[in-house]
Amino acid sequence: MANINLFSPLRIRGMALKNRIVVSPMKQFSAVNGKVGHWHIVHLGSRAVGGAGLIMEDERAWKIEDSIVLAGILKQIGVDLITASAGGFVILDKARVYPSYQVRFAEKIKAETGILSGAVGAITEAAQADEIIASGKADLAIVAREFLRDPYFPMHAAKILGANVEIPFQYKRAF
Ligand SMILES: Cc1cc2nc3c(=O)[nH]c(=O)nc-3n(C[C@H](O)[C@H](O)[C@H](O)COP(=O)(O)O)c2cc1C
Repeated sequence: MANINLFSPLRIRGMALKNRIVVSPMKQFSAVNGKVGHWHIVHLGSRAVGGAGLIMEDERAWKIEDSIVLAGILKQIGVDLITASAGGFVILDKARVYPSYQVRFAEKIKAETGILSGAVGAITEAAQADEIIASGKADLAIVAREFLRDPYFPMHAAKILGANVEIPFQYKRAF
């Protein structure tokens, strides 16, 4: 093997890295509309002065249009399903996280590319999940935190919606 070490340069297309040490993206919620600001210039600038070969910034400039292009490419190479999550579940600003707050992403990706899409994010109610599917906005309702509260969410949802699902024999008296 060639004599390559941590401080060997690397060329990636038109980009020349002086070493192999990379600053990993660390979302610190400081970009405004996907643009770097003074904080980045100071914070990342000092890492550049410190000698990093490459600095990776977070994905805050990533837009739904980018996801649509990516989903189209992924579909062509055989990907079947996109889960359309833009994060946000740790954001403390409650106004930005409301029921079905990310469904529009799943809807748009599905409509624009025809790929199967799964909606995720603050899906907690039977009727809410049913509406997402029945309206054709997404193909799957993906649920996280509600499953921490209620492992029987599908059975409860079936009861509320009047759907005929198989209840395990041991649980029949409860449902
Ligand atoms: C305790 C916890 C751990 C999680 N871990 C991951 C993870 O490892 N990878 C990931 O992509 N999303 C992770 N998520 C995000 C969830 O998959 C989901 O996208 C998010 O919680 C929004 O859905 P919800 O509103 O139904 O909770 C996690 C969420 C919670 C609450």
